[in-house]
Amino acid sequence: MTAVSAPPIPMLARTRAGIATVRAALAGPVVLVPTMGALHDGHRSPLRLARSLAGPAGSVLVSIFVNPLQFGPNEDFDRYPRTLERDLAICAEEGARAVFAPSRRVMYPADPRVTVCPGKLGQALEGKSRPGFFDGVLTVVLKLFQLTQPDVAVFGEKDAQQLTLIRQMVTDLDLGVQIAAAPLHRDPDGLATSSRNAYLSAQERASALALSRALSAARTAGPAGVASVLAAARVVLTAAAAAAPPVKLDYLVLAEPEGLAEVGQRYSGPALLLVAAKVGTTRLIDNMEIMVGERR
Ligand code: PAF
Repeated sequence: MTAVSAPPIPMLARTRAGIATVRAALAGPVVLVPTMGALHDGHRSPLRLARSLAGPAGSVLVSIFVNPLQFGPNEDFDRYPRTLERDLAICAEEGARAVFAPSRRVMYPADPRVTVCPGKLGQALEGKSRPGFFDGVLTVVLKLFQLTQPDVAVFGEKDAQQLTLIRQMVTDLDLGVQIAAAPLHRDPDGLATSSRNAYLSAQERASALALSRALSAARTAGPAGVASVLAAARVVLTAAAAAAPPVKLDYLVLAEPEGLAEVGQRYSGPALLLVAAKVGTTRLIDNMEIMVGERR
């Protein structure tokens, strides 16, 4: 009988000195996967992409930090799931070489006086409903890049606006980190995987499925043009708004995929349909690529 060996346990750094030592020991290329922990199946896609980008010689480094700067005063910072032991096991399974899990005091020894301004896109969509959210995200991502010095960093396509803004920050501030995008992962019922799905009751989860259904209906309507795409999604979302528990729509926006500017009625070509809604107290986002208009 052959013994099955457990995956090697990643090195764990919890301090600035710790991450400096660990980083110095990592063979390049170093691929960073920034997370807020509570790792689930949706994180396996960025972890696996990171593993393949690192190649046999390189190293995957995962950061786990629930960043207070990106939570509003009435948001779920305190109840956000923290599951470090399980996260470490998942990182080991997915071949991560090291984990950086700093405390709040390590990341922010004092309240930051200087933060990253995300510009105009940072005020739209998520940024409109969550003021300061992207300032917090970009600030912590920049700090993580400084502390871990990655060659490549992987972010999920589920957070499409975050991914776009991080790419803009890397370009505009000459950060020299390559950004890779990991595909959005869905549970078998179609719900986009998210750590916040853990908050949903069974009934709320059933209502929340309207988001992915709306996006799929919109994609089917793609060839008929912008108005039809939006109308198809709205039919599903309007029914879901009357369901129990209701889906409270925040936004439904069809945007061009590069800079996420909202498209006009006559647009045709590849687009991203972005949706955000609340079910109970849980805020959910989802998106889907849609080919709008007839292919030329
Ligand atoms: O997407 C996330 O989990 C977070 O926004 C990130 C990028 C780790 C920054 O805290």
